Amino acid sequence: MTELKILALSGSLRAGSYNTALLRAARRIGPGGMTIELYSGLGELPLYSQDLDTGTPPEAVTALRRHIAEADGLLIATPEHNSSVPAALKNAIDWASTGSSPLSGKPIAMAGASPGAFGSIRAQQALRQILAAIGSDVVVKPEVTVFRSHERFDDDGKLTDDFTASLLSDLLASLDRTIRSKRRIPPLTRT
Ligand SMILES: Cc1cc2nc3c(=O)[nH]c(=O)nc-3n(C[C@H](O)[C@H](O)[C@H](O)COP(=O)(O)O)c2cc1C
Repeated sequence: MTELKILALSGSLRAGSYNTALLRAARRIGPGGMTIELYSGLGELPLYSQDLDTGTPPEAVTALRRHIAEADGLLIATPEHNSSVPAALKNAIDWASTGSSPLSGKPIAMAGASPGAFGSIRAQQALRQILAAIGSDVVVKPEVTVFRSHERFDDDGKLTDDFTASLLSDLLASLDRTIRSKRRIPPLTRT
């Protein structure tokens, strides 16, 4: 079986982040034939500026674009800031939407965690809209909204909630299917 490479991108810069912890859990839960690598460069990206977005962009940007291009798919875990996507995550997405635009057509699964009652659902809706504009291939279901996140991880950031683990497992299976079925369908040819 072909091993799929997934890049996991947390929208949080916080050391004790629930969203990053969710991605760590995904590494343990993921199906066979899938390797999940955690991207760690979010805080090194400069704020997006078209003046910097030249043929030789900052090194952190080149690295981000390369990581995305080399991945078969992405798993994004987004916090919710003021009912939307955190600025750091939007900044990374903006950088990855220009130049070689490695997000275009990329299979992406999303999840999100929040101590609040809605589990980042509004941030995820905003994220879907952003990724639709870029033309990413976003997995529709399941929606993984980890509400009351503080009750679902232990003090070491380990996921302790079986229902969340099961949803995450279904999401990864869905991403796996999306990537593999996409590969089997040949592109349309014009005669
Ligand atoms: C500026 C700011 C705005 C926030 N807005 C929301 C919000 O709209 N909805 C929500 O559920 N939580 C909100 N929160 C709380 C975050 O969900 C919470 O800090 C969460 O733990 C952040 O994710 P992380 O644990 O991955 O760092 C906000 C936090 C900050 C700092």
